[in-house]
Order: sequence, then structure tokens, then C-alpha cells
Amino acid sequence: MGVFDEAYRRSIDDPVGFWGAASQLIDWTSPPRQVLDTSDLPFVHWFPDGELNTCFNALDRHVEAGRGEVAALIYDSPLTHTVRSYTYSELRDQTAQLAGALRGLGVEKGDTVVIYMPMIPEAVMAMLACARLGAVHSVVFGGFAAPELAARIDDAKPKVVLTASCGIEPTRVVGYKPLLDEAVRLAAHHPDCSVIFQRPQERAALHGTDLDWEETVSAASPVDCVSVRSTDPLYILYTSGTTAGPKGVVRDNGGHAVALAWSMPNVYDVRPGDVYWAASDVGWVVGHSYIVYAPLLAGVTTVLYEGKPVGTPDPGAFWRVIADHQVNTLFCAPTALRAIKKEDPEGEFKRRYDTSCLRALFLAGERLDPPTYEWARHLLSVPVIDHWWQTETGWPIAANCLGIESRPVKPGSPTLPVPGYQVAVFDGSGNSVAPGVDGEIVIRQPLPPGTLTTLYNADERFVEAYFSRFPGVYLTGDGGRFDEDGYLWVMGRVDDVINVAGHRLSTGAIEEVVARHPAVAECAVIGVQDPLKGQVPIGLVVLKAGVDVDPEALRNDLTLAVRESVGAVASFRRVQVVTRLPKTRSGKILRATMRAIADGRAYTVPSTIEDPTALDDVSQVISPEALSAPEGPGT
Ligand code: COA
Ligand code: AMP
Repeated sequence: MGVFDEAYRRSIDDPVGFWGAASQLIDWTSPPRQVLDTSDLPFVHWFPDGELNTCFNALDRHVEAGRGEVAALIYDSPLTHTVRSYTYSELRDQTAQLAGALRGLGVEKGDTVVIYMPMIPEAVMAMLACARLGAVHSVVFGGFAAPELAARIDDAKPKVVLTASCGIEPTRVVGYKPLLDEAVRLAAHHPDCSVIFQRPQERAALHGTDLDWEETVSAASPVDCVSVRSTDPLYILYTSGTTAGPKGVVRDNGGHAVALAWSMPNVYDVRPGDVYWAASDVGWVVGHSYIVYAPLLAGVTTVLYEGKPVGTPDPGAFWRVIADHQVNTLFCAPTALRAIKKEDPEGEFKRRYDTSCLRALFLAGERLDPPTYEWARHLLSVPVIDHWWQTETGWPIAANCLGIESRPVKPGSPTLPVPGYQVAVFDGSGNSVAPGVDGEIVIRQPLPPGTLTTLYNADERFVEAYFSRFPGVYLTGDGGRFDEDGYLWVMGRVDDVINVAGHRLSTGAIEEVVARHPAVAECAVIGVQDPLKGQVPIGLVVLKAGVDVDPEALRNDLTLAVRESVGAVASFRRVQVVTRLPKTRSGKILRATMRAIADGRAYTVPSTIEDPTALDDVSQVISPEALSAPEGPGT
């Protein structure tokens, strides 16, 4: 047995021994005597009697160990022409001060705080300040519109909202404060106050319970870390599910800290002294885990980049950051590489920078298509590692664990299940299928530390969403197969979740907005392939009888409505009017069949279909040929 196989086997046969040893990577205020409690399945409790503080482990302990002058965070923002580095001491001090300000506003252990911020160091400090107090943060991605923010405020019920006056996109300044004002107006829950970090690019007018960040923080005194139980929540992160309402994934403190600290050397082969860059956003799980928590827990230098992969005027923006900050490991989404490849297919701009410091490139967020893999491998001459995970798991489920033992890469596969994850592929009846056969990917209990513990205030929804299809087994929502060598192949979602430029969205949320249009009788939104963004949504719309509307005007109306309700990030631009939608005799729209048609996959016509000719009608507008035609729908 190889080193990797041996580690994997141990993690499955003896999870208590395996994760008990890994728990030594963390400083506990009260070390756990019990590693795993499975008495309450499907709820799994890791290190249930341990106590710790996650912020202490991310910052203070490195300072106390004499590494206070090491760079903790490098902020690089081509959008504001700023580069600034923070040592572990500086980051700890500023975080402790901000935590003091939050405490002054009444935030205590267990309270929730919503963070709606752009990619600036204060966003990282905000997360860590909450962790320091034992408060529970919920970061909302800046690209979401006010109603999405309102839905999260209503669910999380924050005592305080932390925000900034604006975010910066390459072509425009996005005022965050008006979006927050609108969200607070829409929400039933009213936070005690909002603290606004003023950015010079657009200052916000403050009123009512608004507080100025600088004034509030400078008047505060730094506070120490509050010890919490391992199982106490560290954060809530909302993600899209099949139904329209976002799901509040809850992460604990202890299991999360252990799993992420373990993942840095073992999965990414990254250790103290290294510079690690996850080119994501703090609003997504990749940002939580691999911009903020994992690198800092591991005592590594993390890069916070405010910009796009393809800068203007420099398509070599990524390579410039790698060279300037001597980045050893980069983690980004395949869509980012496709954006670079489009602008600089021959790597001409790459050659302007010395990127010899780079040891590996990790990719996740969507399937890594083999052409993009080959392009990156050829361009960078370092291992290019596809790895698969989800907001729910918080860290990789399948990867090529470079820090344990590198395995041969098979382009298109994220390699093997990571230690801790018992992955299986089931048929519709819940039986494991043979290698080479496609099915639904599931994970057997116990899920390893760091994975979601429940959905916020929704234990029943947690059980229903993840453990009801195959009782007792976690449903990933992805389809795929194992091959004869045990490599996993993740082929895409089997539900109504889509992945647009690495951003996870619910087609149900977009459908709700489209259906509200006065001309629309009914609609279906599905994801279709896109050469840059991986997937984009398309709306298939049936008009009300007798309604005569200009298709272009309808498209503009619907595009705007989705922008304002869901957010620009949905990239909803394609709309096609159809005479009817394919349905079952009980009236259920056949979304899965339409997805298969759009992907060019084989499908069987369901026996329950009401009128099979309806499938032919939609095929004419969503087949891969129709979608790629220059005059294709809504292009
Ligand atoms: N605040 C406000 N608006 C935002 C935003 C934010 N934080 N992020 C994105 N938007 C807006 C964009 O301005 C754009 O608006 P537009 O339609 O007016 O142009 C829209 O949302 C879509 O944004 P995006 O999906 O980022 O598309 P893009 O064309 O600007 O860039 C990519 C395309 C591929 C370069 C970019 O999506 C990317 O880097 N994706 C990687 C995502 C990622 O890291 N995911 C995490 C998994 S690892
Ligand atoms: P998110 O929760 O936003 O991280 O999105 C998770 C979803 O992204 C997964 O369920 C997959 O559908 C998709 N995904 C993430 N990484 C990969 C990958 N390496 N290969 C295939 N799909 C991926």
C-alpha cells in the first residue's frame, strides 16, 4: 500500500485515531477528551468536549510563538492601486481592536453579525473579530442584490451589520450602502446598527443607526479571545439549493480548525514560510476557508486580491501577483483561467513575469475541462490539481493530496477521495454502482471534521436536503462515477443548482423573478454551457394568452429584474419565448430532461410525460447546436 492509500485507510478505519492526532495541530483552551460523537446521527459532533478560540489559533498563537513579524496578509488591489502587507502582530492588533468595537456595540458570544464587504483587509479582520468574540459571522457576497441580502438578514438576524461604502468593479464603483439600506428596508429583522467602512472611491451618507467604522474602532479597546466549545458555530454561510431560499450552512469551531489546519500541509503541501493565494472572494466558501482561515491557522502568508484575473490593461494580472509576492501555491476557478486564456492564449503576458516561485496550481468551483487543464499545465510547468468540494464540506472531498503523495493526474478527474471522506456512487435505489457506471455521488457518515454541522435554525431542512434521499448518507447533489483505478469523475449537478463563473446559484431563485413578470404565464430556468463561465442561465418563457410583447424588450425587462433581485453575478441574459414547456401529466416541468438536451447528453423520455412533442419544441432552442448558433437564443 502506498503512503496515500495507507493514510486514507487509517482515516476511514480509525477516524478517532486519525483526527485525534490531527487535533494536535490546534491550540485548545481545554483539549478534547472525546474525538467523535455519533450518538445523534445525522448530526456529527467533533471534539465535543474541547474548547478553543479560532481567532487565537489563526493569529495570536503565531505571535506568541515568535512569528509576529511574519507577513500574515498581503492585500493587492489593482483596482485601487494599493498593495499593503500586514504582519501577524498587526493583524492580531487590528482584529482585537475591531473585536473591542463590536463588544462595545453589544456583540457577545453566540450573537450573529452580517458582513457585506468587498475584498479589503477589513473584511478579513471583521471575520476574525467575530471569531475572537465567539460571535457568529455570516458573510454575504458583494455581488448579491438587496433582496438576497435581506433574505440573509432575516434568517441570520444579526445584531450588527459590517459593511463598506462601496465595492469596485473594473468598469464601475458599486455603492454597497444603498444596497444595504434597501435590504434593511425589505427585511423584517432590524439590526441594532450598521458600521460602515468609508472608502475614498465613494463615501456613503450615514444616517439613523449607522456608525462610521474608523470612529467606532478608534474609540474601542482591544479585547482578548473568548473560549468557545468546539461545537459552537463559527459562521453561517448561505448557499444555493434546489429551492429558492438560501441554505445557511453552519460551520463549527473545533472540527473546522482541525480539518483546515490538516489540509494545508497534506492536501496543498503548504507550510509556514510559504505564500498561498486563493483567488476567490471572501463571500464564497473558498474565500472563507482558503483566503482567511486555513492559511492563517497554518501560519502561512495569504494574499487578498481585489481584481479580476484579466486586468486592464494587463492580461498578465495573475502572473504579476505571483511574481510580486512570490506566491508558491495558487488556487482559483477554471473560469478564471479560461478568461486569461481567451486574452492571452499563447502566454505572451505570462512570459513578462518570473513565476518560478510557483509550485502548484489548484482548481475548483466547477469541473476542470481537459483543454483548460492542458493549457495551464503547458503554460506553467507545475502540477495542475483539480479538486472537488462544496460550501457544505468547507474543504476538499476529492483531490490529489500533494503533501501526502502525488498521484498521476487524469485530466477531467479530481483524483481520489481525500482522507476522511467515504465517497460512494449510488444508483436511484441507493445501491453502489460498479466502476465506470454513472450515478449520484454520496458520502457515508461520519462526515469528517470541518463539514457542515447543520443548517442555521433549520435542523429538519438539513436532514431533508442531505440525508433523506438515501437515509443516513450525505447527498452531494453531484453526479459522476469512479473508474477502475478508483479515480472519481464529477460530471455536474443533478439538481437545479448551477455554477456561473464559479458562482453557485439556484435556478429556482431566478425563476421566481422571471415568473413575476406580467407577460409571463410560466417559465423554467436551466443552466446551459458557456465557453467562458462554464454555465449561464437561460430562461424559457411561455407568455400569457393574448399577450404580444417584443422579445427584445422582454429580455431587457427580465435581465434587469434578475440583476435587481438576485444580482449581476447571475449573468442572466438569455431568454427564449416558447409555446409550451415539457411536463409530466401531473404538471411537473421536466427540467432534468431539458438539462440533458441542452448538454447534448442522451436521455430517455419519461413515461409520465404529458405530450412528447413539447420536448421537440424546446430542443429547437436549447440543443447545443441552437445555443451555439450566432443567432442563438438571447445571445
Ligand atoms: N460586487 C458587485 N458586483 C459584482 C461583484 C461584486 N463583488 N462580483 C461580480 N459582480 C458583477 C460584475 O461586475 C458583473 O457585472 P456586469 O454584468 O455589469 O458586467 C457581474 O457581476 C458578473 O460578474 P462575473 O461573474 O465576475 O463576470 P465577469 O465577466 O466580470 O468576470 C470571470 C468573469 C470569469 C473573470 C470572473 O467571474 C471570475 O474571476 N470568476 C472566478 C470566481 C471565483 O473565484 N469563484 C470562487 C470559486 S474558486
Ligand atoms: P460551491 O458550494 O459554491 O463551492 O459549489 C459546489 C459545487 O461546485 C459542487 O457541488 C460541484 O457541482 C461544483 N464543483 C466544485 N468543484 C468542482 C470540481 N473540481 N469538479 C467538478 N465540479 C466541481
